[in-house]
Amino acid sequence: MAKDNQNLLARDKAHLIHPLHNPSIHETGRVWAKGEAATLTDADGKEYIDGLSGLWNVLVGHGRRELAEVAARQMETLPYCSGYAGSTNRPAIELAERLAAITFPSINRFFFTSGGGEASESSFKTARYYWKLRGKPKKTKVISRQWGYHGVTLAAMSATGISTYWPMFEPRVPGFIHIPSPYPYRYQAPPEDRGTVSQGVAAANELERAILREGPDTVAMFLAEPVQGAGGVIVPQDDYFPRIREICNKYEVLLVADEVITGFGRTVRLFGLQHWNVQPDIMLFAKAVTSGYFPFGGIGVSEEIGKVMDTGKMVWMHAYTYSGHPVGCMVALRNLDIIERENLVDQAAKKGSYLLDKLRRSLSGHPHVGEVRGLGMMIGIELVCDKASKSEYSPEEKIGIKIHAAAQERGMFSRLRGDVFLIAPPIVITQEQLDRVVEIMGESIVAVLGS
Ligand SMILES: Cc1ncc(COP(=O)(O)O)c(C=O)c1O
Repeated sequence: MAKDNQNLLARDKAHLIHPLHNPSIHETGRVWAKGEAATLTDADGKEYIDGLSGLWNVLVGHGRRELAEVAARQMETLPYCSGYAGSTNRPAIELAERLAAITFPSINRFFFTSGGGEASESSFKTARYYWKLRGKPKKTKVISRQWGYHGVTLAAMSATGISTYWPMFEPRVPGFIHIPSPYPYRYQAPPEDRGTVSQGVAAANELERAILREGPDTVAMFLAEPVQGAGGVIVPQDDYFPRIREICNKYEVLLVADEVITGFGRTVRLFGLQHWNVQPDIMLFAKAVTSGYFPFGGIGVSEEIGKVMDTGKMVWMHAYTYSGHPVGCMVALRNLDIIERENLVDQAAKKGSYLLDKLRRSLSGHPHVGEVRGLGMMIGIELVCDKASKSEYSPEEKIGIKIHAAAQERGMFSRLRGDVFLIAPPIVITQEQLDRVVEIMGESIVAVLGS
């Protein structure tokens, strides 16, 4: 393959604006030319392990011919049709039926979008609409959590709890409130809960306190990822979500699960909240629903919300041109076939526990590895300046960025949240590649921080 990376990057710089546009990071950017299973190849022909499955989405791995074929056939037959009321298509109907069968028993009706941010917006608007029709028009506020990521459209950005996304676009949308993350490694309960309840219950009680502070009649919904992803792979305590469900029931606040990363098997259940037997009122999905082969997402709502929507009292004036796109729906259906046929959820369980275990054994003794954590094929490695105090490096030291560069040099490409290194490869990753991920992480940490 020609050595094209630098040439293409120079042309890229002249006309392209990138998500999280950052000229200095882009300087050493890779131009991706090919993907095959869990391997990416750049325009110079160098191979990398796809350490984050693209952006957590390429669950079934790259290069699946059957997904390309099903998309091509649908494009030949009916490339597009409106999904607005009065118009529908067979693939959309079949996908909604399929999702109703495999998601939570509570979730039965589906609205499709082009991705996760649109799904977040759809949940905010649906929650407000629902409460208006239920005669509680003041219930409009959205509570979400620090380190939550829900997209970057203005309202989704306002729900996102990673504060670096805010300053250049503020003011944020009013009525979006954040509570602390349950973050087992760092969460400190307030005095009233310290020593009296578990850490998970104390973190969930933050929701109750926020609802009471804001006034229960003003809160529409609580939005949470079952495992916080972009915020650093934060796995909650087992008693966290059951207590959250109780609080939501008590104050009539809709529980909205953002399953955009956790959906379709990555955490070794098809959906993340299934780990704790908790059912949401609304769920968001995107990413792995099509394994990234087509931009797609959506929300699922409870039958109760569906019934209120069916009263027809007030048209739900919410819509996207590409809602129910027949090509996206066909790709999603075939992608779900692959997940089932190849038992990818079981594979995620086996490979995820192997990888987490091996990373823990090989890295936990390092003086700057604070925590290696994860669930299934979602793993976070948190680097700290001082292990005893868990103090963080100053951002100017750019430790995470340096480790990312060292890993890239050694043949793995992934992402970070500050000094938390994120790992979530495609489930089809090979045994040899899993072992290589561990080696690369060990070598990269030592190269940047010493042994
Ligand atoms: C949990 C979660 N929700 C929502 C989104 C937003 O999705 P999109 O980038 O498709 O708008 C993301 C994207 O990473 C996500 O991780």
